[in-house]
Amino acid sequence: MNFVTSQCTRRSPLRACARWVSTTAEVDELVTPHPRYLPDIEYTQPKYRGPSKEEILSLRQTHHGHVFHYYRMPVMITDGHMQYLFDEERRRYLDLFGGIVTVSVGHCHPEIVKAGESQMRKLMHTTHVYLNPEMALYAKELTDKFPGHLKSAFFVNSGSEANELAILLARVYTGNYDMIALRNSYHGASYLTMGAGGMHTWKYNLPMGFGFHHAANPNIYRSVVPKREAADFYAADVMDIIKGATPGRLAGYIHETIQGVGGAVMYPDGYLKMVYEMVREHGGLCIADEVQTGFGRTGTHYWGFETQGVTPDIVTMAKGIGNGFPLGAVVTTPEIMEAVSRKLFFNTFGGNPVASAIGRAVLRVIDDENLQAHSANVGTFLKTQLTKLKEKYEIIGDVRGRGLMVGIEFVKDRETKEPAKTETMELHEMLKNRGVLVGKGGLYGNVFRIKPPMCVTVEDMEYFVYHLEQAIRQLTGLSVTGL
Ligand SMILES: Cc1ncc(COP(=O)(O)O)c(C=O)c1O
Repeated sequence: MNFVTSQCTRRSPLRACARWVSTTAEVDELVTPHPRYLPDIEYTQPKYRGPSKEEILSLRQTHHGHVFHYYRMPVMITDGHMQYLFDEERRRYLDLFGGIVTVSVGHCHPEIVKAGESQMRKLMHTTHVYLNPEMALYAKELTDKFPGHLKSAFFVNSGSEANELAILLARVYTGNYDMIALRNSYHGASYLTMGAGGMHTWKYNLPMGFGFHHAANPNIYRSVVPKREAADFYAADVMDIIKGATPGRLAGYIHETIQGVGGAVMYPDGYLKMVYEMVREHGGLCIADEVQTGFGRTGTHYWGFETQGVTPDIVTMAKGIGNGFPLGAVVTTPEIMEAVSRKLFFNTFGGNPVASAIGRAVLRVIDDENLQAHSANVGTFLKTQLTKLKEKYEIIGDVRGRGLMVGIEFVKDRETKEPAKTETMELHEMLKNRGVLVGKGGLYGNVFRIKPPMCVTVEDMEYFVYHLEQAIRQLTGLSVTGL
């Protein structure tokens, strides 16, 4: 095996990438034969002068309490530039996880940095008991992105807070209490949202978030009925819950449009439409949690719910809304939002001028750089390549998703669909060693979650697919050309 000993790219000033690439040209049968290099970039990472990685790890272990991390030896990230991250030794990584679907338009995107910096020089904080132009203009610009009467926004700081408020609104507005959520869903880590979530791995053994009933997950890949019957079958389960486990009146139904933490799970077409009707017939509101799927990521549409032909009563968002700045929002109709004013309701930082200036800049960049269409193009390319990989390698049970929200589910056996948990962990580690960071998810941790900053390119994806194939070959004992 001949390692390239100079640089990761021909022009970029990076070093220490030698371990990730090879010049051996045994590539004919590979799906993506050429891209052994990450694309060149015009960026020079400043030299890192801080404490060593070992010191940071020790500080974290001593003073953070339990915070889990990826990889046997965690990666330390010191800088970011668009779709790339850099570690303390100036290794460049292709970031296909985007800080857990949060860096939407690119790490340290110059327009976002400019907007934040300029607002910080003017005014960092007031609270919304005073008027300030940023929050009001932002509310208008954000709600302009929504259909129908969804014209009222309330700003918070995270996805959990957004979902807390949405559920509060549903209960206060309808006067009902019972909520339906989905098994395998994730809606946050606050007490209430932990109760809404549907994975045992994210719940403590405590009373939490009362009033949630969890419907069967309409997961197309793992459906217990044929795909063409799945929408009816899983919608019927929601009706069964309404009839069998509630007083027949609902506060609401909360759902992701593609499950994120749950492993990029897609629902059968028509399912949400049927469920929305049932929920509304029983007095409830429909809440779309767009914390991961919003802001153009799904490619064909700005919001995930639009891909399913439904219009929710309440939409929650966070993560990509601020490109990494803590920000969240609830958008609903003015009538529903009015429910909150029946008591004093307040959020100290929500809609803070800096957060609002950054949120406005994110909206502008998505439009100016055409990132929604770009997500569709790059995502289509990626899925096509991954589908070819799936045809070659049995370990890939499913490739799914929309735009730049893609999942790859690894299984031990295509018939039984037994999750390939340890193999997924190995591949995850191997990809990191090849300079690619991906997310992991699903109840069994056997799904790769590909949700990069939306500025990622086809060339980046070629690099990823090439190295994923090499890693699969290495794992399964086939000949490899890298590492
Ligand atoms: C779909 C969804 N909703 C809500 C949340 C909670 O967001 P936060 O961690 O900002 O509270 C998450 C976080 O991963 C999420 O994926």
